[in-house]
Amino acid sequence: MPTNEELTRWDTEHYWHAFTPMAEYTPWVIDRAEGVWLYDIEGNRYLDGVSSMWCNLLGHRQPKIDAAIREQLDRVAHSTSLGMAGTQAVVLAKRLADLAPGNLQHVFFASDGSSAVEVALKMAYQYWQQSEKPQPGKTKYIALEQAYHGDTIGSASVGGIARFHEVFQPLLFEVVRLPIPDPRRLEKPVSPEQATAHFLAELEEVLKKEHQQIAAMVLEPLIQAAAGMVFHPPGYLRGVRELTKRYDVLLITDEIVTGFGRTGRMFACEHEDVTPDFLCLGKSLTGGYLPLSATITSPEVYSAFLGEATNTFLHGHTYGGNPLGAAAAIATLDLLEELDVVNRLKPKTQQLAKLLTQLETHPHVAETRLMGMIAAVEFTAGGDSGEPYPAEVRIGAEICKEACRRGVWLRPLRDVLVIMPPLSISSEELELLGRVLVESIETVTKRL
Ligand SMILES: Cc1ncc(COP(=O)(O)O)c(C=O)c1O
Repeated sequence: MPTNEELTRWDTEHYWHAFTPMAEYTPWVIDRAEGVWLYDIEGNRYLDGVSSMWCNLLGHRQPKIDAAIREQLDRVAHSTSLGMAGTQAVVLAKRLADLAPGNLQHVFFASDGSSAVEVALKMAYQYWQQSEKPQPGKTKYIALEQAYHGDTIGSASVGGIARFHEVFQPLLFEVVRLPIPDPRRLEKPVSPEQATAHFLAELEEVLKKEHQQIAAMVLEPLIQAAAGMVFHPPGYLRGVRELTKRYDVLLITDEIVTGFGRTGRMFACEHEDVTPDFLCLGKSLTGGYLPLSATITSPEVYSAFLGEATNTFLHGHTYGGNPLGAAAAIATLDLLEELDVVNRLKPKTQQLAKLLTQLETHPHVAETRLMGMIAAVEFTAGGDSGEPYPAEVRIGAEICKEACRRGVWLRPLRDVLVIMPPLSISSEELELLGRVLVESIETVTKRL
């Protein structure tokens, strides 16, 4: 086993980390985990307050998921999805088809969230080329400002966060971009219903003019996560579904973050009784254990890929439907069901709500938001003025650093603090998280 000194040196010298300014990187090596706790090689422990990047669902080292993976290892670690199936992937496809809203029942597996979105974009495109009534002119996509759907060229093209995507602009395909449906961005304060009507009217205007060229609209339903956990006004998603149907445009909902109970329902779409044409799932699908994602679609879309061999969906990933990932996913679904996790979230959500109410009275907290077990805190430099902190202060990062010193790991989205622990977090652990957060905000805002 390498020494800690070797691990930290090799980490610096050889490991290029995702979304990490490597010039500033301080090695931090996680060695093991248990429940909501991460342990580094120095033996320090940290409460995983953001579910290991929004994916760990039911805690680390969940005995049932661990056992399912071990059992699968004794059978086969990998078999392909090209022209054959693995037992676990078949079972998972059936389970997901049963769970997905409405008539969604055909499941295409990939390895990560970006690829699940990429699959949906390409399926939608190919669908219009070869559906019963082809509309080959439908080649464009509608996407939202500040959207994040992943980092492959296709998923980044529909993404709309300048600081992630701008540098690649010449490589990306053009999309029809609509403003982020965030009521706070409207010039005048309006009611949520008025905001919804306003954003839907903007969408309808585009659809009226361009629907013949538009293959699909893609969005993160209810919450735009990487935008800073921005909440759409109620009724927006349902309105989008109605309009896209009316104008013959397919709807792709990216539930890579919101799926599997995080919002208080199994899928965010359920809050507004919406069935999209493509549902993209990833992250929590395997309990946050292994890379596996899924794009689930309807019989109508699927049937356009039948008939001639030339109708085949021309896309695939080596590890799509990987048996170990599928076994972890089935165990995760079993646990969600057996423990009735989603229906029993209420007390934890209420505890989080209480914490946010307490934070709201802090003079440096501008706003808090909560849906299910996804919480966000925004800061203000100037008390009632609501002015944000200057970007160079990096208030979000400073508070997270302070929390880390106190044993809680959080990762901000710029100046928005995200609280998104595994759904399995206990009431005591949630309380500890809250206490550390309050202390950290207090310490940092006093110091600034
Ligand atoms: C809404 C959304 N879609 C897609 C992705 C991309 O998933 P992955 O990182 O697994 O490719 C993310 C990642 O955070 C996401 O937040």
